[in-house]
Amino acid sequence: MKIIQQNSILIVDDTPTNLKVLFELLSESGFKVSIAKSGESALEKVQEALPDLILLDVMMPGIDGFETCRRLKADPRTKDIPVIFMTVLSEVLDKVKGLKLGAVDYITKPIEQEEVLARITVHLELRKAQLRLVQEEKMSALGQLVAGVAHEINNPVNFIYGNLSHAQRDVDDLLKLLHLYQAYTPEPIPEIQTYSEEIDLDFLESDLPQLIHSMQVGAERILEIVRSLKIFSRLDRTKSQPVNLHELIDSTLMLLSSRLRSKSQHSDFRRPDIEVVKEYGELPFVESNAGQLSQVFMNLLTNAIDAINEKFENGENIQTIQTAQTQDFIPRIIIRTEITPDQLNAVIRIKDNGIGMTEDVRQRMFEQFFTTKPVGQGTGLGLSITRQIVVVKHGGTLEVNSTRGEGSEFVITLPVKFEHD
Ligand SMILES: Nc1ncnc2c1ncn2[C@@H]1O[C@H](COP(=O)(O)OP(=O)(O)OP(=O)(O)O)[C@@H](O)[C@H]1O
Ligand SMILES: [Mg+2]
Repeated sequence: MKIIQQNSILIVDDTPTNLKVLFELLSESGFKVSIAKSGESALEKVQEALPDLILLDVMMPGIDGFETCRRLKADPRTKDIPVIFMTVLSEVLDKVKGLKLGAVDYITKPIEQEEVLARITVHLELRKAQLRLVQEEKMSALGQLVAGVAHEINNPVNFIYGNLSHAQRDVDDLLKLLHLYQAYTPEPIPEIQTYSEEIDLDFLESDLPQLIHSMQVGAERILEIVRSLKIFSRLDRTKSQPVNLHELIDSTLMLLSSRLRSKSQHSDFRRPDIEVVKEYGELPFVESNAGQLSQVFMNLLTNAIDAINEKFENGENIQTIQTAQTQDFIPRIIIRTEITPDQLNAVIRIKDNGIGMTEDVRQRMFEQFFTTKPVGQGTGLGLSITRQIVVVKHGGTLEVNSTRGEGSEFVITLPVKFEHD
């Protein structure tokens, strides 16, 4: 399935000639255009599909542009759609009224083509920037929440974990004592005999140490998860400091472990466990922002998992499906790290043998909101944020090698020392 984001614009105007001119201009400029001939029908249209922007005529029979705008802004679903008024009235009062109602801009008729396009572009860009900020804000709020929860869980789990080894020792001692009693009480007392049988003493003796052992394994696992959560969501997200990249990658993998596991009867498709191969070289600590870099690894690794899943789900052609579904195909993510010979840059390669990219996707993948994933699954922000973090915030590079049907490799280079702002 391919959904490529194309900006959609709703034009609301009761004059056919205006509609026609604008429709042609905007369609030719690559927008997805829909039209409404009155305020009422515009309000109905937006309920079917939310446009990215609305061009709204002021003077219309029925409810006028101002009232239409007021209703749009009163509905939480539509209130964030930028509205640009079109008006022949150039009195200051009307412009102010429109802006007060929440419109972002106005254009005057007769329409000046270049001007319309310029204003629309500006407002679409602004809207995207705003969405991006909200997204980043959410990520950071989530990070703090996760860090807080991890911190809270840490104590009680340590409590359990720490005491389990004492419990183990005590149980061993008690069992030894029991054996001593058994050895030195040759004539078993009937009450004790009966009770031992009742509680199945032999089984209890062999089971108890195992029971404690599995509690220990469980507690260790929780500790590991908590540790990963803490590393992943460092509270000090904005600070740059020497970072152990391997630790960061490992904690991200830990958080993704359930997604790496095999898929079977309960999901839409089957696949075996994804094998993760780590070929870590010697890396020095890298001057960087751990919180941001965990986002980078998270984005690239989830993309790799998605690409592998897609190969199992619905390869684009029969050939891919067959390769993926033959017994000996092992879904795999290989992570290699090394330092460049001049010791100046750390290189991290994340390679998957998933679905790979078509030429079109390769061209567009870094665009904001570009996604090939079903609605609700991908926002199309992952790679643009990733590139922003690697290239702009860390002075590194991000390259991609990909072959459709074979897989993709993302290569990150990060300067070991970098002047962060
Ligand atoms: N490892 C990969 N293999 C194949 N295609 C990929 C891979 N990584 C990215 N892509 C393609 O690039 C597109 C954009 O990726 P990006 O991470 O920016 O957005 P997304 O994964 O679709 O959504 P999200 O915002 O949730 O990350 C993906 O929809 C996918 O088509
Ligand atoms: Mg992604």
